[in-house]
Amino acid sequence: MLSDICYKPVFAEQEVYMRRTAKLLTEIYDIPPKACVITFGCQQNVSDSEHLKGMLCGMGYILTSDESQADFIIFNTCAVREHAQDRVYGNIGKIKQLKKDNPKLIAAVCGCMAQQQSVADKIKKSYPYIDIVFGTQVFHRLPEFIYKRLKGSKRIFELSLENGDIVEGVPVKRDGSFKGWLPIMYGCDNFCTYCIVPYVRGRERSREPEEIIAEARAMVEAGYKDITLLGQNVNSYGKGCSHGVTFAKLLRMINDIEGNFVIRFMTSHPKDCTAELLDTIKECNKVSRHLHLPVQSGSDRILKLMNRKYDRKSYLELIEAARQRIPDISITSDIIVGFPGETYEDFKQTLSLVKEVKYSSLFTFIYSPRENSPAAAMADPVSRQEKGRWFDELLQLQDEIASENVKQNIGKTYRVLCDSVESEDVISGHTNGTASIEFKGGNELLGQFVNVKITGYTNTYKGVII
Ligand code: SAH
Ligand code: SF4
Ligand code: F3S
Repeated sequence: MLSDICYKPVFAEQEVYMRRTAKLLTEIYDIPPKACVITFGCQQNVSDSEHLKGMLCGMGYILTSDESQADFIIFNTCAVREHAQDRVYGNIGKIKQLKKDNPKLIAAVCGCMAQQQSVADKIKKSYPYIDIVFGTQVFHRLPEFIYKRLKGSKRIFELSLENGDIVEGVPVKRDGSFKGWLPIMYGCDNFCTYCIVPYVRGRERSREPEEIIAEARAMVEAGYKDITLLGQNVNSYGKGCSHGVTFAKLLRMINDIEGNFVIRFMTSHPKDCTAELLDTIKECNKVSRHLHLPVQSGSDRILKLMNRKYDRKSYLELIEAARQRIPDISITSDIIVGFPGETYEDFKQTLSLVKEVKYSSLFTFIYSPRENSPAAAMADPVSRQEKGRWFDELLQLQDEIASENVKQNIGKTYRVLCDSVESEDVISGHTNGTASIEFKGGNELLGQFVNVKITGYTNTYKGVII
């Protein structure tokens, strides 16, 4: 049974649909049709969208970011909080007018939000101009869906979680040419009580190490300098597989690939962050000195209600262990404010934890009830306004910590990958941790590593190449 989880299937059936669709499109259009992929949500979705783009290009579509020019539009959606869902509904409503302007337009909705039956039902009923709706585990079947709809099939709704197999060989068209995402696993088994991800992304499953290494090697050969390994909980990579490669081992294997590049990863769940992993970060010269270690709350009572499976003490010990090994490590986190039943006393525990850890940066969220999640059924007496006040208090604290961090960083020199053009002679880049620095330089430096000394800070770090 063990090896069933890591399974090596084929994209061959969809390749046939890709070829058929490509032929059909040349019969329908005089010039190549355009496709627009609109992405909401996390890096996992961004990576899935890069695969959707790979398939669309394989079928002969030209990519565009202009919806009004598109012959095919797809919304890759997120369901993590209510706000994320509302934004999607606002956007898909626009399709009605776009279809009036371009009757041949095909519109699709996929991703985490679409995976929910209630959402698919709502789209079926209230958004009749959406042609195709499909979930997270069948996204590789895009060629088949487009082909069938072009051939006149009725509206397509495909939410099956199938058997959770990982489909290798799906073409990918990455957005960047030197920074890239590399998924190493899919799904989540943690069932934090507030979270919808395990329901919409299915069970945790890992790619085979050889597949990941081959893709990493190909990325390095293609000039990628910054590779981020993706998974909802990368620390449990390989669980249930017979190959015995842990996440720490996988990092070492990627670190051994020849070339000048940085390896990042996200997200790490504190309950699975081992000493072996911390040692690996320390010993691997290409692994970024950064740990995104979402704590969610500083109160043991709330952590228990959240089903996070660690407590404040063990979390703080983990931070200590990381800093002992790697003193310059940058630590970031996610925090939820206003979990059902959280009191101001609980929240104060979060404030004190944030004060103690001094994160490099924080991603903070007000709790949003998610359909069918256990937390949605818990009593939630604190008003939204009150939660808003707590939230502001947390932001203010983090701002104070950030300005302290800024003071400490001025004068230090960092190795930076030049990644964006800010203006004619100013570019910016990210350190091995996560800080962004702006400095004088031309776009010929893009994709290159330079050493930059931090000289000041206004909204972002400023520096000079040395
Ligand atoms: N697997 C990752 C990230 C999951 S989603 C992890 O465990 O860290 C990213 C973040 O969104 C979570 O860390 C959490 O802070 C936040 N989040 C998830 N569900 C939420 C909800 N229902 N309300 C508010 N924030 C939520
Ligand atoms: Fe959601 Fe928890 Fe899984 Fe992260 S680890 S995706 S927060 S259930
Ligand atoms: Fe959103 Fe799905 Fe990511 S719910 S946060 S896009 S895994």
